[in-house]
Amino acid sequence: MTSAAEAKTKLNKFEKIKAAKDGLAVKTEIEEFAQIGWEAMDTDDRDHRLKWLGVFFRPVTPGKFMLRLRMPSGVITSEQMRVLAEIVQRYGDDGNADITTRQNLQLRGIRLEDVPDIFNRMQQVGLTSVQSGMDNVRNITGSPVAGLDADELYDTRQLVQQVQDMITGNGEGNPEFTNLPRKFNIAIAGCRDNSVHAEINDIAFVPAFKDETFGFNVLVGGFFSAKRCDAAIPLNAWVKPNQVVSLCRAILEVFRDNGLRENRQKSRLMWLIDEWGIDKFRREVETQMGETLEAEAEKDEILWDKRDHIGVYTQKQAGFNYVGLNVPVGRLYANDMFELARLAEVYGQGELRLTVEQNLIIPYVSDSRLEALLTEPLLEKFSINPAPLTRALVSCTGAQFCNFALIETKNRALALVKELEAELTFTKPVRIHWTGCPNSCGQPQVADIGLMGTKTRKDGKMVEGVDLFMGGKVGKEAELGTCVKKGIACEDLKPLLRDLLVDKFGGTAK
Ligand code: HEM
Ligand code: SF4
Repeated sequence: MTSAAEAKTKLNKFEKIKAAKDGLAVKTEIEEFAQIGWEAMDTDDRDHRLKWLGVFFRPVTPGKFMLRLRMPSGVITSEQMRVLAEIVQRYGDDGNADITTRQNLQLRGIRLEDVPDIFNRMQQVGLTSVQSGMDNVRNITGSPVAGLDADELYDTRQLVQQVQDMITGNGEGNPEFTNLPRKFNIAIAGCRDNSVHAEINDIAFVPAFKDETFGFNVLVGGFFSAKRCDAAIPLNAWVKPNQVVSLCRAILEVFRDNGLRENRQKSRLMWLIDEWGIDKFRREVETQMGETLEAEAEKDEILWDKRDHIGVYTQKQAGFNYVGLNVPVGRLYANDMFELARLAEVYGQGELRLTVEQNLIIPYVSDSRLEALLTEPLLEKFSINPAPLTRALVSCTGAQFCNFALIETKNRALALVKELEAELTFTKPVRIHWTGCPNSCGQPQVADIGLMGTKTRKDGKMVEGVDLFMGGKVGKEAELGTCVKKGIACEDLKPLLRDLLVDKFGGTAK
């Protein structure tokens, strides 16, 4: 046996778990798990395979699980929001929901014995959480104002839904795509401002015309990890909207069947592209697809700075507005969720949208109802005109719920920007992203100022600290930021950030 072949036969822990039993197999066992309880479960099923159903065992809160949904393009109906509110309400102080940086929701406090009933209730309103964790395709992102934005080039909602349906077997689970070498991210942009962060996805479709025909240029291989971060690179392919699903399928099949599986640190799609070179990768994808791909269009249509959608904006539908609310660090409680569902029904058309900045949009507010909406008490908490640091603040889950976290993030992030806002004024928002550990779920690399949790030494003691990232650019000239300073103790962070905000981001003392 060659050494390469030998290496391939040495399965890492997660490959062994998948080989022993497909993750999706737990779907038929969930009733049984609910009966025997989490303590009696096989630990591989409990800690890993349940993630194929979106159910995450949280070692920080044993017995209180996290439920990660799927929310294609971040669209959620008021009816769905109300069902999720009822689910977390049952758990009192333990229950809440976070809007995530993939336009998704993660519910907290979930008890295993309730999961079968929760799944039934979700199914009744068309929600699924299937294949949302581990080596599966994550929530597929799209413009949060698709179908509303007068300047959009293409309403991508249906495409996003079709790609999700293909991957998840219409939400029922699809064993074809439950054993990828690693996680996988897909984004489809039909807007001009790159509101999906195309560059950080394994596959991104960005709008581009050829001879006035609309289509997408395709980027591949973008990813973050503790060891390496790469922006997606051009596949040199241009596809029409009706080729998007089949191209996603072909790329996923090529990745599934050829992706590197020995080392979890080197198994994201970009590592396969590195090994093969982009030309061979492209040829393999063409073969799999059974079609010749057209070369990419000379230029794409990502021409704008990124918008944050907070505030009131007129829609392409005359007489209607979408209203973007700032949800500080994305945290929602049951009462907020009930209230949002109500507002969407009373003032809009029973729909809400989530953004990758962990915020919320209420679409279809008619001109005549707008003033009344703006006086609703919830808009004091979720402002349409928040202070400039709060406005652009993003944070991953952190130590409150996540066992990987090296520091507390969300509460600390909020407290710190409040203090800084009390001292400084700004002419424009500054995008500060917090992430609790090098896994980078909070994307410090796309921020003006990125803060990554670490442990550091101060006065001979280990304390909570951060590594500082800078230079992240979003929108038309997206670029990943890099680490510029390591090991700042969190207690020393405020003066450092204050100086940075004054020197580089136009902050002035009040
Ligand atoms: C080995 C690497 C990684 C591990 C083990 C990991 C693990 C996790 C876990 C356990 C959670 C859930 C925590 C909780 O809310 O209870 C989470 C959340 C999340 N992860 Fe990761 N992650 C990794 C890398 C990444 C990367 C590279 C991204 C993409 C940039 C990402 C995107 C996310 C997102 C969007 C969330 C939701 C967090 C939020 O917005 O609050 N993850 N991750
Ligand atoms: S970055 Fe680390 S702490 Fe934050 S959610 Fe991801 S794994 Fe958890």
